[in-house]
Amino acid sequence: MSSGERQRSASERREALKEVLAQARGCVRCSELAATRKTVVFGMGNADADLMFVGEAPGANEDEQGLPFVGRAGKLLDKLLEEIGLERGDVFVVNVLKCRPPGNRDPLPIEISNCQEYLLRQVELIEPTVICTLGNFSTKLLRGDPTGITRLHGQPEVRVIGARAVRLYPIYHPAAALYTPRMLETLREDFARLPELLALGAPEQPLSQEAEVPQPDVPEPVEAASVPEEPVGAEREPAAARSEQTATEVDQLGLF
Ligand code: URA
Repeated sequence: MSSGERQRSASERREALKEVLAQARGCVRCSELAATRKTVVFGMGNADADLMFVGEAPGANEDEQGLPFVGRAGKLLDKLLEEIGLERGDVFVVNVLKCRPPGNRDPLPIEISNCQEYLLRQVELIEPTVICTLGNFSTKLLRGDPTGITRLHGQPEVRVIGARAVRLYPIYHPAAALYTPRMLETLREDFARLPELLALGAPEQPLSQEAEVPQPDVPEPVEAASVPEEPVGAEREPAAARSEQTATEVDQLGLF
């Protein structure tokens, strides 16, 4: 075992993240998502952050702006961060899926599987101390176990993600707490424990920290086993009318 010191310099980390971002922007692994997205929502925040949040998937606002958690759930996330003395610039925020599922449907297992290399690479490069999973999808993926968030929220555990040991901390998704005052209270209580968790520092790292982490390469399209029809009302421009990653190109990574 070794200490949790970072393996890369800040500039190496940023360069490597930009390469993964470029790969994600060209990704067509999920043909439906690639055809319907406006932007690839890679993630945003401080690439040197000790604390990383992993949500589910971009919604309409995120797809529009190319940034994660910019809608109502994002506003709540910002408020909860502020209550513990943090802001977006102190953390890095990503999702399990980098593309919006049409009509905000749940991510499909094949989509989660297609996208997970990007998430693993983000963890590997940012080297966080604490990963806070928001809701069921990220919790189940990163724990590799179907146990749901209701049983797990607020209970930190050391887990090896890719090659890095982190303190994994599942909490409710802010979107779930928007309309349920009791859930919001629980989320707030769980949030309040984040500073003490961060103060513990990184857990001991496995000796094989240099182990290979899968690099997403330019992937072939992979079809979802079954592609549900787009729900009524989910209007979209035809793909040809959309300009991919333009206005948000420069600042997609926020403080990156
Ligand atoms: N919900 C998520 O899980 N992610 C976002 O980026 C926005 C809402």
